[in-house]
Amino acid sequence: MRFVSHSEEETQSIAAGIAAESSPGDVYALKGDLGAGKTVFSSGFARALGIDEPIRSPTFTIVQEYVPRCDRLPDLKRLYHLDVYRVPDSDSALAFGVDDFFDDESAITLIEWAERVADILPRGTVTVEIRHLDENSRGIVVSG
Ligand SMILES: Nc1ncnc2c1ncn2[C@@H]1O[C@H](COP(=O)(O)OP(=O)(O)O)[C@@H](O)[C@H]1O
Ligand SMILES: [Mg+2]
Repeated sequence: MRFVSHSEEETQSIAAGIAAESSPGDVYALKGDLGAGKTVFSSGFARALGIDEPIRSPTFTIVQEYVPRCDRLPDLKRLYHLDVYRVPDSDSALAFGVDDFFDDESAITLIEWAERVADILPRGTVTVEIRHLDENSRGIVVSG
């Protein structure tokens, strides 16, 4: 699926549309440069799952956990929002325990800077690539 977003709000609503199709156990790999909109996408996704808290890149903590409130997905217990920007490589990510998040079948995982740990993403990971087109426009390609 390909989208063009012209604003932060439009990226959030595209993310909400993807979230509406999501299921517990899903992993979403968010790729794109600094400022592409990975966190904006994550906030729209989280809001669509009934999470009202502000969403920020967990750059220093690596993971932030939220509790969804979603009538459509009563078995969904957690949303994990990861940002592996500061994780040097896949081995470090495994040492941190990222696979515990990936394997949690009662959770959905969003992972920013997923290109850094591409070789350990689980089978079935959905890739979301966000590209700068101009100041307020982004190309968003969802695959997998
Ligand atoms: N169409 C758009 N979609 C998403 N963000 C946009 C868009 N246009 C401008 N922006 C701005 O780009 C920045 C994206 O930041 P952020 O989501 O934190 O990026 P990343 O997490 O990829 O580093 C925000 O300041 C946001 O307001
Ligand atoms: Mg971010």
